[in-house]
Amino acid sequence: SSLIESAEVPLELTGGSRFLRACLRKPVDRPPVWFLRQAGRYMAEYREVRKHHSLVEICKRPEIAAEVTITAAEKLDVDAAIIFADLLLPLEPMGLDFEFQAGEGPVVHAPLRSPESIDRLRTDRASELEYVAKAIEKVTGHFGDSKGMIGFCGAPYTLASYMIEGGSSRNYIFTKQMMYGETTAWQRLLDKLVTVLTAYCRQQVDAGADVIQIFDSWVGSLGVEDYRDYVLPVTKRLVRAVQEMGVPVIYFGVETASLLPAMHETGADVIGLDWRTPLDAGWRSMGYGCAVQGNLDPITLFAPLPVLETRVRQVLEQAGGRAGHIFNLGHGIVPGTSVEHVQAVVKMVRELASRFVGS
Ligand code: CP3
Repeated sequence: SSLIESAEVPLELTGGSRFLRACLRKPVDRPPVWFLRQAGRYMAEYREVRKHHSLVEICKRPEIAAEVTITAAEKLDVDAAIIFADLLLPLEPMGLDFEFQAGEGPVVHAPLRSPESIDRLRTDRASELEYVAKAIEKVTGHFGDSKGMIGFCGAPYTLASYMIEGGSSRNYIFTKQMMYGETTAWQRLLDKLVTVLTAYCRQQVDAGADVIQIFDSWVGSLGVEDYRDYVLPVTKRLVRAVQEMGVPVIYFGVETASLLPAMHETGADVIGLDWRTPLDAGWRSMGYGCAVQGNLDPITLFAPLPVLETRVRQVLEQAGGRAGHIFNLGHGIVPGTSVEHVQAVVKMVRELASRFVGS
C-alpha cells in the first residue's frame, strides 16, 4: 500500500511539511532528517558562543538561543530545527536550583528526598519559562515553513529522577526508593510535573512549535512492570494534553527495547528509537502503529565515510520505505564529532532514501 500512497506525495515538500507529514505517517518524497543535539559543543560556532555565555544564559536569552538553533539547522541543512534549551529549565520555577558543572552534567542543589520537599514544589510559575517560547517565535519567524520547528520538554520520569537524585545516576536508588516507598508523594511529584510541563508546552505551541518532543532519556532504568505501574499513566496524560493543543508528539527514551510496546501505549504519534534497538525490530514490536524516529548510533559518525554510509543505508533499509520514518540518531551527537560527517549523513539520506520510498 505504500506504493499507492506514494503516488499522493505532493511534488513540492518544504522541510517543514516533509517533517510534519512523516510525524503523521503520511507519505513523503524521502524521510525527513534532523539530529538529536544538533546544536552543541561539536560545532565551532556553538563553542564560540559558549566562550561568552553560560549554557543557562544562552537558554534564557531568546536572541542567542534562536541564533544557536538557526545556525545549527542551516549549517546541517536539516528538515527541522529543535529549539535550544535544556531539560532541566522547569526545575527553577518549581523551586529547585541547579547548575551545570563542567564535565559533570547538571547538579541540583537540594534534591528531593522527602514527601515534604515534594509538597513545597510550586506549579504556578511556569510563565517564567516564556523565554523559550520567545526564542521559538524568533526561529519560526526566520524559517517559516522551510523547516519544522520542534519544541521539547523532559518527561515526568526523567525530570523526577534528576530532582530526586540531584544529577545523573547509575542505579536510580533514591528515585526508586521514593517510587516504591512513598508512592503517594511520587504520584504527587509526577502530577506537579505534568501541570508545569503542560503549561510549558502550551507556551511553545502557541509560539509556533509544530511538534513537541518529550525526552524520557533515563526511562530505560525501569523494567516494564514498573514503567506500567508508576510512569505510563501520567506520561499518557502529558502526551494527550499536548496532542489536544493540535500538535504531534515524539516520545524518546534510551535503552528502551523492552519498553517500546508500553511506551507506544502513551499514544505518542512518533516513538524515538535509541541506537541499540534495530529499527525494524523496534517498529515491529509496536505493530507499526506509530511513526518512528532514529536511530543511527551517534558514534558511527566517527567512522570513515564508506563505513558510515553502510550504516546509514542499514537504517533506511530497516525502515523499508514505510510512511512514518524520521531519520535521526539513536541518541545525541557527542563532543568531538566531525561536522562534515554529520553533513555527509544528510546528503546520504537524500541520495539513498528516494530508492526506498514506496519499496
Ligand atoms: O540541539 C539540541 O539538541 C537542543 C539542545 C538541547 C540541550 N539539552 C542543550 C545542552 C537539548 C534537546 C537538551 C536536552 C537534554 N538535556 C536531555 C535529553 C537529551 C538526551 O541527551 O537524552 C538531557 C538528558 C539533558 C540534561 C543535560 N544537559 C545533561 C545530562 C547535560 C550534560 C551532558 C553533556 O553533554 O555535557 C546537559 C548540558 C547541555 N545541554 C549541553 C547542551 C548543548 C552541553 C553542555 C554545554 O554546552 O555546556
